[in-house]
Amino acid sequence: MARNNRPRVEIDRETRTMEISRMIEEGGLGTEATHYKVVKRNARKGVVTATGNILNELVANLGVLFVKLHQYHWHVTGSEFYTLHEKFEELYNQALANFDEFAERLVTKGERPYSTLLEFLQHATISEKPYFDPISSEQMVGNLITDYETLKAIALDGIEAAQEENDPVSEDMFIGFVQQTDLNVWMLRSFINK
Ligand SMILES: [Fe+2]
Repeated sequence: MARNNRPRVEIDRETRTMEISRMIEEGGLGTEATHYKVVKRNARKGVVTATGNILNELVANLGVLFVKLHQYHWHVTGSEFYTLHEKFEELYNQALANFDEFAERLVTKGERPYSTLLEFLQHATISEKPYFDPISSEQMVGNLITDYETLKAIALDGIEAAQEENDPVSEDMFIGFVQQTDLNVWMLRSFINK
């Protein structure tokens, strides 16, 4: 086919694929859901997979959650202090284990996990903020429920991507993570409804 007769949409798609590959190479890919949907369609085997991109999004979010759980562990006060101080410690240890597991899965797949605090903040979808004014233990638990539901939504997309990319090991990891996250949300909700 003569160059001038090539369908414009094909040229656009190629350009976009190159652009996405460049963004990935520079580590500048954002975390909005649409981004990894686009990458999923344009994934190049052996470079960056959609599954890898979602694993990395979980790495960034768990890096932030790990610190946030420490913040709550340090600042929680009130009659539930001992219960929540210990629970938050259990949760940050769990987050650390998941964080390392997802990052090492990426390395095993030949891909590159985020590994600086700046990258975690740039690519995480859950938020954090400095602690100045006291917040109630219920508010802390409520914030964590929201965060775990965000993580669960990412992992559910991961299950779908891993199935499409025939990566049963990552799929199994995402399923295990969703199961654990559901348990966390159930316990935290039960605390608020006490
Ligand atoms: Fe401690």
